[in-house]
Amino acid sequence: MIPFLQYNPTKLYFGKGQIEQLSQLLDENLKVLLVYGGGSIKRNNVYQDVMKELEKVNATVFELSGVEPNPRLETVERGVDICKTENIDFLLAVGGGSVIDCTKAIAVGAKSASNTWDLIRGKAPIEAALPIGTVLTLAATSSEMNNVSVITNWETKEKLGWGSQLVFPVFSILDPVYTFSVPRDQTVYGIVDSMSHALESYFHRTENTPMIDGFIESLLRTAIETGPKLLEDLHSYEHRETMMYIGTTGYNGTLMNGSDGGDWATHRIEHAISAVYDIPHGGGLAILFPNWLEHVLEEDPSRVKMLAVNVFGIDPEGKTDKEVAREGAKALRSFWNSLGAPSTLRDYNIDDSEFDAIVEKTFIKPGVGRYKEMTPESVRSILKASL
Ligand code: NZQ
Ligand code: ZN
Repeated sequence: MIPFLQYNPTKLYFGKGQIEQLSQLLDENLKVLLVYGGGSIKRNNVYQDVMKELEKVNATVFELSGVEPNPRLETVERGVDICKTENIDFLLAVGGGSVIDCTKAIAVGAKSASNTWDLIRGKAPIEAALPIGTVLTLAATSSEMNNVSVITNWETKEKLGWGSQLVFPVFSILDPVYTFSVPRDQTVYGIVDSMSHALESYFHRTENTPMIDGFIESLLRTAIETGPKLLEDLHSYEHRETMMYIGTTGYNGTLMNGSDGGDWATHRIEHAISAVYDIPHGGGLAILFPNWLEHVLEEDPSRVKMLAVNVFGIDPEGKTDKEVAREGAKALRSFWNSLGAPSTLRDYNIDDSEFDAIVEKTFIKPGVGRYKEMTPESVRSILKASL
């Protein structure tokens, strides 16, 4: 293993009814900016539950609604303006990864005189942030328990991941009941995204990591077992709770302890596609990841083979490493197909006309892929295979 520091300051309140903690966690008389998306929280009563808690602590509540899936810089800037004008004390994100990511960017923008996009792209230092709490309504990104955020600048067509120790949520409340209303397609994207975080973490080059490799394999097997059952009954508490814990564990640091951190090229390529076409993150990953596996196994099948055997139960007897690895890549594709995830870019009406732009945007920051370092040619070949 590589020496590591495990640091995650987010207090996680998990389970039915945990919303009642909210009033215990907030000081009295705060000015709170409530950040949410397109209105799902009003239809499923999460908004009402949150407001009831905020009333108990006599909070003065301001609202920023309409955060887009793939949240945009202009929305972040609207939030920063509210914080500065109203002297907001605390940010409360109620929603999925997009709402939380937007809130993280508001948190740093509100405490800086610099342009918020400059903070996000590392051109200005992040020195302070407003505190954030979250109430999660969609299991997918782990944003509720990490210090990462992904923001799209639609003007420049850039989608950038960034992070700061200052934007870990102070607390996150995860009630699986709040995810009952997540529609089928978003549920599938969430399963794919959570599994992809585990897969990205799995493809590292560090020796002697049996614990994290085993954690990852267990997470993946559990998702494969639970995903189809959940899709048969979207209101199953049991399956929602399992997927919610999988979602949070996928990218909260646990799966990277002691390793080089994993690959993450597939995420970089997906963000570049989303920057141009605004497609759902999980949908893009479902298309790309099996093709990335096919790409890497040609050179070095060892870890894809390990995935095939330990996660998909493929019998290696009498087969070459490559044959086993190829069966593993196919098994991942078939599993995601069986859930109804997209499998080609054409499913989103994407052809090769913007491939140059996508390749360029993939390399917006240098160094794409740790397990296998990508070149523009290799990204292009994965894109071609994804058509
Ligand atoms: O906007 P509302 O009306 O709330 O509807 C949302 C949205 O349309 C809906 N939804 C959420 N909870 C719901 C619900 N609908 C019904 N009932 C509920 N309980 O779902 C739609 C998608 O929401 P979104 O927040 O966009 O999904 P997700 O959590 O998958 O977040 C995706 C974003 O996170 C980024 C992605 O790139 C993308 O921008 N990521 C963030 C990461 C991080 N911060 O660590 C890592 C990830 O790899 C990812 O890149
Ligand atoms: Zn992801």
